[in-house]
Amino acid sequence: MKVLVLNGPNLGILGRREPDVYGSSTLAEIASLVAPVAAELGLEPEWIQSNHEGDLIEALQQGAASASGALLNAGALTHYGFALTDAVRAFPHPVVEVHLSNVHAREEWRHRSVLAGSCVGGVYGFGPDSYRLALLALARFLEPERG
Ligand code: DQA
Repeated sequence: MKVLVLNGPNLGILGRREPDVYGSSTLAEIASLVAPVAAELGLEPEWIQSNHEGDLIEALQQGAASASGALLNAGALTHYGFALTDAVRAFPHPVVEVHLSNVHAREEWRHRSVLAGSCVGGVYGFGPDSYRLALLALARFLEPERG
């Protein structure tokens, strides 16, 4: 069962991007951390990163037929990405919002997620573990689909 793991702007430079906030792991290292959990759950994550909102929208539209759910760290698009939010709403499977940092403990503009209401839930503040926890949460939502 395939799941999309979508990563928005600036997440391609994790490891060297504000390591005091986001830690020192690269996105590839986070993918390696998540891989064994995914395997245990029988899930195949497809990792995608783009700095462009349209690419993330395309990934959701194209993945609708082949994927069963998605994790979404939309980066700053979380806070103002209405087109991406519409794409999440149109995606016919559960989506879990993910953030490395605790967005609620940071600047006020990060406190609002325009995506949150279109996701089944969210995990934030646990660094790379946010992805692992989000995948476990997503798997629960996929159980009825697995039959
Ligand atoms: C982030 C939080 C966002 O506010 C920020 O713009 C990011 C990363 C996180 O994972 O903590 O790019 O999504």
